[in-house]
Amino acid sequence: MQVKVKGCARDFRTVTYDVERNTVDLIEQRLLPHQFEIYSAKDYVDTARAIRDMVVRGAGAIGATAAYGLAQGARAFSGNRLDRFQRHVSEVYETLKSARPTAVDPVNAMNLVREAMRAGESVAEQQALAAAAAEEFAEEDVRHCAAIGRFGAKLIREGMTVLTHCNAGWLAFVDFGSATAPLYAAQQRGKSFHVLCDETRPRSQGATLTAWELAQQGISHQIIPDNAAGHFMQRGKIDLVIVGSDRTLGRTGEVANKIGTYTKAVLAHRHRIPFYVAIPLSTIDWGLRSGMDIPIEHRDEAEVLGAWGVLPPRPGRSSVGKRVYVRVANATSGAVNPGFDVTPAELITGIITPVGIFKPRELWSNRKQLQAAR
Ligand code: MRU
Repeated sequence: MQVKVKGCARDFRTVTYDVERNTVDLIEQRLLPHQFEIYSAKDYVDTARAIRDMVVRGAGAIGATAAYGLAQGARAFSGNRLDRFQRHVSEVYETLKSARPTAVDPVNAMNLVREAMRAGESVAEQQALAAAAAEEFAEEDVRHCAAIGRFGAKLIREGMTVLTHCNAGWLAFVDFGSATAPLYAAQQRGKSFHVLCDETRPRSQGATLTAWELAQQGISHQIIPDNAAGHFMQRGKIDLVIVGSDRTLGRTGEVANKIGTYTKAVLAHRHRIPFYVAIPLSTIDWGLRSGMDIPIEHRDEAEVLGAWGVLPPRPGRSSVGKRVYVRVANATSGAVNPGFDVTPAELITGIITPVGIFKPRELWSNRKQLQAAR
């Protein structure tokens, strides 16, 4: 997508791989919306750290980052003993996999890369295959998000107000986004509509990332407090909800997404507002049998007890103020901080995929078509 940096519009992807330098290059999301910088992860440990510390975040983006990280780790191996190489690759895989547990995209992406590597008969061949497969995963992510946009745009009617939660935008993928792709496609078709972005405490991805993306794209939007959606729904001010997902169960249609999604789904159901989830196929977990088995990441309590922001720039100094963390909560209180929740299938109107829109429980009966589309 296009980003205006110092007044100039340029195309960027959230994550790219520089094979020559063997670096994984990421838009540094912790600095947005105040500063636009690229973070170059120098080795696979650094790439895993960037995922864990949320330099890069969002299901598809960490999927592509993990795929590139695996190729990066494989390439760093020197020697030609295949048995040693394979042990090294397993270590790289486990390091990247453990960085964030809820999203299934990194695991699905790295499995594709490992599968592709099997065709190689030497270390060098497998290294080259890993890089090509990681690139193909990233390209597939772009194609899938564009297709989600084409199907999802039909749901957006002129003058609608759409609610979204967290950031399932292009920053959460390689390009276009999942929940935002229908918005961008509808805009291209000349439709006008308004978006309400849940701020999405504790890390505020809605207020910082989604709002920044929509502003870059010139889409009309406002940020609302996390607990305001019910109020707006009750007064007929929300027509449609579209969110993303970090793991959607193919067997049950249950959806893990950023904490607070379940609450919005309950509210939408109460007010008979259509509630859609947009996902590329890499977000589907065909194995798990219950949403209660999805590993829910618990993050640092500091995220709940305080907030990050920037100070006003000092006169005559840089144009961007210093980024600071401030304690908001009572000094002696602790916090508990689950990053995700699980929304049951019956609260979801439809799942927007790159091959069409399905009822959540139809994913399983259409699994052949969905699995073949990868
Ligand atoms: O913790 P994050 O920011 O990595 O959470 C992921 C998300 O951005 C959301 O849950 C999003 O809605 C789905 S990811 C496409």
